[in-house]
This record gives sequence, C-alpha cells and structure tokens, in this order.
Amino acid sequence: MDEDSTMALPGSPAAWRGRGTPGGQARPLRPPLLLWLLLAQLPSAAPSCPESCQCFGNTTVFCSEECLDHIPEGIPANASQLFFVETSLETLLSGAFANGTSSNAALRKLVFLCSPLRSLGEGAFAGLTGLRELAISSSQLTGLRAESFHGLGRLRVLSIQFSPVETLEEEAFRHSPALRELLLRGNRIRALLPGLFRPIGGLETLSLSQNSLPNLPEGVFDSLPHLRVLRLSDNNLSCLPVGVFHHQVDLRELHLDGNALAELPAGVFSQQTHLRRLHLQHNALRELPPALFSSMANLTFLLLDGNRLKELPEGLFLGTPSLVELSLAHNQLETLPEGLFGTLLPNLSVLTLSHNHLHSLPTGLFQGLQDLTRLQLGHNNLTGLPRELLANLSNLEVLDLSHNQLATVPEGIFDSSFALFYISLRGNPWACDCHLLYLADWLQYADDLVNAHALCGSPTHLKGLSLPGVKKEQLVCPRRPPGPVRCRVEAQDPSGEEEASALPHCAYQDPEGALRLTCGPDACQQLRVTLPAAKGTGQHLSGNWTLGSGCGTLRVQVSVTIEKEEPVHGREAP
Ligand SMILES: *[C@@H]1O[C@H](CO)[C@@H](O)[C@H](O)[C@H]1NC(C)=O
Ligand SMILES: *[C@@H]1O[C@H](CO)[C@@H](O)[C@H](O)[C@H]1NC(C)=O
Ligand SMILES: *[C@@H]1O[C@H](CO)[C@@H](O)[C@H](O)[C@H]1NC(C)=O
Ligand SMILES: *[C@@H]1O[C@H](CO)[C@@H](O)[C@H](O)[C@H]1NC(C)=O
Ligand SMILES: *[C@@H]1O[C@H](CO)[C@@H](O)[C@H](O)[C@H]1NC(C)=O
Ligand SMILES: *[C@@H]1O[C@H](CO)[C@@H](O)[C@H](O)[C@H]1NC(C)=O
Ligand SMILES: *[C@@H]1O[C@H](CO)[C@@H](O)[C@H](O)[C@H]1NC(C)=O
Ligand SMILES: *[C@@H]1O[C@H](CO)[C@@H](O)[C@H](O)[C@H]1NC(C)=O
Ligand SMILES: *[C@@H]1O[C@H](CO)[C@@H](O)[C@H](O)[C@H]1NC(C)=O
Repeated sequence: MDEDSTMALPGSPAAWRGRGTPGGQARPLRPPLLLWLLLAQLPSAAPSCPESCQCFGNTTVFCSEECLDHIPEGIPANASQLFFVETSLETLLSGAFANGTSSNAALRKLVFLCSPLRSLGEGAFAGLTGLRELAISSSQLTGLRAESFHGLGRLRVLSIQFSPVETLEEEAFRHSPALRELLLRGNRIRALLPGLFRPIGGLETLSLSQNSLPNLPEGVFDSLPHLRVLRLSDNNLSCLPVGVFHHQVDLRELHLDGNALAELPAGVFSQQTHLRRLHLQHNALRELPPALFSSMANLTFLLLDGNRLKELPEGLFLGTPSLVELSLAHNQLETLPEGLFGTLLPNLSVLTLSHNHLHSLPTGLFQGLQDLTRLQLGHNNLTGLPRELLANLSNLEVLDLSHNQLATVPEGIFDSSFALFYISLRGNPWACDCHLLYLADWLQYADDLVNAHALCGSPTHLKGLSLPGVKKEQLVCPRRPPGPVRCRVEAQDPSGEEEASALPHCAYQDPEGALRLTCGPDACQQLRVTLPAAKGTGQHLSGNWTLGSGCGTLRVQVSVTIEKEEPVHGREAP
C-alpha cells in the first residue's frame, strides 16, 4: 500500500524510531502494517468511543493524544485491539482496565508505543482475561515484576522492547504460562536468573538481542525445549557454556552475532540438527572446531563474517550439505584448504570471501559448487588465479575480483561460466598487454560502466586508462628482439681502487655504450646490451668487457645466445 496516502500520525517521525535492528544499523521502527491499514480506514461514528481515541470498525481502538495520562473510560467492551501511541501514560495502576462498567475481556491485543510508561502496578492488566498479545515499546520501564502480569493466563506474545529494562525478577513470567513468543530486544538486561524461563516451557521464540548480557548461566534455557528461534545478537557474550543449547533440539534459527565470542566449545551446537540459520558474524572468533557444524543437515544460512579467522579446518562443512549462503567476509584468511568445499555443498549459491588476506586459491577449491551464482573475492591480496578455478561453475552470475593484486587472468578462465554477466575488476594493477585479450573479449559483452574504474597499471603508455576504453589493437606484448635472449653475466672482482660494493647505485658502461650495468650495494640488477644488427639467423656473442663509472671499473664476461623465433604480437581478435 502507499504509505503516503494514509492519514498523518501525530508527532514527529523521529518518535517512531527504535534503537536499531539486530544487524546493528539504526532503522526506523515502523508501526505494524496492520496499524497503517487501520489508519487508512475512516473512523466509525461509534457512539461509545472515548473522547481521546478513535474507534475503527467495532474492533479496534486507537488512542493517541499527548495529554492522555490514564486509561480512558468507555472503551467499547468488545474492542479486540487497543493501541496507545505517543500518549503521556506514565503508570498503569492496579486494575487500570477494570475501571468502569465493562471488563474488556474481548481484548486480544494491547499495544503501548512511545508512551513514557515507567511503572506497571500489581495486576495492571487485571480483567483482560482474553489478552493474547501485549506489546510495550519505547517506554521508560526499568524492570519487570511477575505481579504486574497477573491474570494474563492466555497471553501468547509478550514484547517489551527498546526500553531501559535492566532487571528481570526470577520467574517474572510465572503468570503467563501460555507464552509462545517473548521479545525483549533493545533493553539493558545484564543478567538472566537461572529460573527465569522455568514457568514458560512452551516458548517458541525468544529474543534478547541488543541487551548487555556478558554471559549465559549454565542451564538457563534448559526449560525451553520447544524454542525454534533464539536471538542473542548484539550483547556482550564472550563465551558460551558447552551445554547451553543442548535442550533446544527444535531450534531453526540461532542468532549470536554482534557479541565478543573469541571461541566456541566443540560440542556447543551438537543438538541443533534442525537449524536453518546460524548467525555468528561480528564476533572475535579466531578458529573453529572442525566438527562445529557437523550435525546441521538442514543448515541453509551460515554467517561468519567480521571475525578474526586466519584459517579454516578442512572438514568444517562435512555435515552441512544444505548450505545456500555462506559468508566469511572480513576475516583474516590467507588461503583455504583445497578440499574445504569439495562436493559437499551442492546447493551453495552465495559465497562471500571478500575483505580477507587471500593471496592465492587452490585450483580445485570451487569446482564442486555447481550451484554457485555469486562469488565475492574482492579486497583480498590475490596475485593470480588458476586457469581451472571456475571450471564447473556454470551457474555463476556475479564475480567480484575488485581490489586485489591481479595483473591478468588466465585465458579460458570463464569458458564454462555461461551465466556470468557481472565481473568487478577495479582496484587491480592490470597489465594491459596481449595476455589481457581474453578478458577484453569477454568485457565487450559486459556493461562498461561496471568497470570504468578498472585501470591499466602497465605498460607505461596505457597506465591509468580505463580497461573497457582500451582498444584491442593496443593490447600487444612488447616486440621482443627476434627470439628469446639468454644472458649469462659473470661479473668479476671489481678492479678499481675503490670497492664497488661499498657504494650505493652506480651505472657502469663501456666506452661505446653497448653495455650498461647498474649495480646497488649488494648486487648488480640491470644489464642493457645493445646488439649489433641481427642478421636473420641465430648468433652467439661473447666477450670480456671493461666497464667504467664514477665508482670505479668493473670487468665482466658476457655471453649472449640469440635464437630465431616467430615475433610475438597480440593474438588476432576473433
Ligand atoms: C461490528 O458489529 C456488527 C454487529 O455485531 C457486526 O455485524 C459487524 O460485522 C462488525 N463489524 C466488524 C468490522 O467487525
Ligand atoms: C459489541 O458486540 C455486540 C454483539 O456481541 C454488538 O451488538 C455491539 O454492537 C458491539 N458493540 C460495538 C460498539 O460494536
Ligand atoms: C478509574 O476511573 C476514575 C475516574 O474515571 C479515576 O479517577 C481512577 O483513577 C481510575 N482508577 C484506575 C485504577 O485507573
Ligand atoms: C563487555 O565485557 C567486557 C569484559 O568482558 C567489559 O570490559 C566491557 O565493558 C563490556 N561492555 C559492555 C558494553 O558492557
Ligand atoms: C530437513 O528438512 C527436511 C525438509 O524440510 C525435513 O524433512 C527433515 O526432517 C529435516 N532434517 C532435519 C535433521 O531437520
Ligand atoms: C538442494 O536443493 C534442491 C532443490 O531445492 C533440493 O531438492 C535438495 O534436497 C537440496 N539438497 C540438499 C543437500 O539440501
Ligand atoms: C598483501 O601482500 C603483501 C605482500 O605479500 C603484504 O605486504 C600485505 O600485507 C598483504 N596484504 C594483506 C591485506 O594481506
Ligand atoms: C568438473 O567438471 C568436470 C567435467 O567438466 C568433471 O570431470 C569433474 O569431476 C568436475 N569436478 C567436480 C569437482 O565436480
Ligand atoms: C675472457 O676472460 C677469461 C678469463 O678471465 C678467458 O678465459 C676467456 O677466454 C676470455 N674470453 C674472451 C672472448 O676473450
């Protein structure tokens, strides 16, 4: 639906902002879609609607008035949803909803959004015997006590989020034994008492993300065998007791990202056989036990980015055949074992290895990943790619090679990547010579804009030019003298008064200027020989030369063999 066409909400848009999302980025907290839908309806002229509220249909009541500081009387007895948004409600006294004629037993959902609630009286919700969902968000609550929730025996969803809640009484939820979903995201919870969850054994979803938990007490989740989703993102967890998840045999999602985990006990996930999603990104993991994921036959998403992994054990993915997405970005990986993926991950579609220290990749690393569509290798230290690296990756669509040390790619490397349509090449020192013709051919069919910033690093006269802009005729290899030249240079002891090796850089040359040798303090590096005009066939030259320089003289014996071979140019464009 078009949000702009709905009626405006009171107050500034900033008031809708929550403290953030599990991913850590602040994002506006939107009111539920349902609320927008309701707002789009015209309020009915129901006679029994309280003054400071609007009633929609005969089931929904929406109260949003800045000076509303108590629960108004006259809420329709059969209202099923009641919203308080941006009111000045600070306290809910005991029996706040049991005041007046009606008892509101029909109420199913009660929401307080952006109201400065700071205390909940004993039995504040008494009378709401039919309530299924209670949500308080962006309040001033600092603690939760069991007695506040007296009488909510049918409550299934309790959500107290983005508030300064710090303390949770032991068994704080003992009056809501039917809870299935408990959402406590974005508070300031520092500790979980061991018996906290004992009364709510039917819980299926628990979120404790964005709190300040430094640890999890042993056994704290043992009374929750039915959990399917457990979110512990963005806390301060630095270690996990080995058995902490051993009773969660039904878990589908486990979020542990944004903590301070430096290691994981080998068996910590051994009971998570049904897990689909495991978030371990943004921790401080240095290594992983080889069998850590071995029981996760249905694991689909595994996020390990933003850790400190230097290497991965060879058998890490032996038990995860269902993986579809794997991220290892922003680690310190230097290389990967050749058999890491083998044929173990037939359904892997997205593999992210960017922002590591990879300098080379084993030839067969990716060959069993037939379903791979996106491969991210950007921001590494790759100096070359094996010719067969992408063999068998016939579904590959996107390949990011940006910001590496690549000067060229082997001819034929993309030959089996029929689906490839996007390659990012920028930030590499491309050597724009005949060896790049293969890539240039391929680039003809790609979007020039993508690689407008992929530049030639050499040769000098093409340096800085955009790769897609270089013409194929310019991609030539330097015309070598007719054939490979093999030089053997034997420098004999310098025979000057001064020790040549004691001097920094010096250029020695013979009187005719045919031979020139540049030497540093330890070794001579550059020899330039100007040969007499070639006479077509092979030649052999050798001689003893005396070279002079400001540093002294040097006697060298040079032997050059010239063999005739076809000149090398760029290959013909097809
Ligand atoms: C409102 O109540 C009337 C009478 O009970 C009922 O017929 C109607 O369907 C209700 N409307 C809505 C939107 O629930
Ligand atoms: C409440 O429900 C009753 C029937 O259960 C209906 O007659 C009445 O109109 C409803 N009240 C309102 C305000 O819609
Ligand atoms: C009940 O309503 C009266 C007046 O409407 C109000 O003075 C009183 O504080 C209310 N009691 C509670 C518990 O909200
Ligand atoms: C996280 O824990 C460390 C000690 O493990 C402590 O020094 C640090 O202050 C904690 N950070 C927060 C935000 O609680
Ligand atoms: C994996 O998923 C399939 C299909 O959803 C299901 O039949 C199977 O039981 C699951 N296996 C495990 C170990 O969860
Ligand atoms: C891979 O995906 C296909 C199609 O979605 C599915 O049938 C198959 O079971 C999956 N394989 C594994 C090992 O999960
Ligand atoms: C890349 O390799 C160079 C030379 O081997 C090294 O100095 C540099 O630290 C490496 N960079 C990264 C990010 O690994
Ligand atoms: C890759 O494909 C070749 C044939 O193109 C096949 O022989 C080889 O087994 C495949 N490798 C893997 C690891 O699937
Ligand atoms: C160069 O000098 C070496 C001895 O230093 C000698 O054996 C060799 O025959 C000389 N070569 C020529 C071509 O004069």
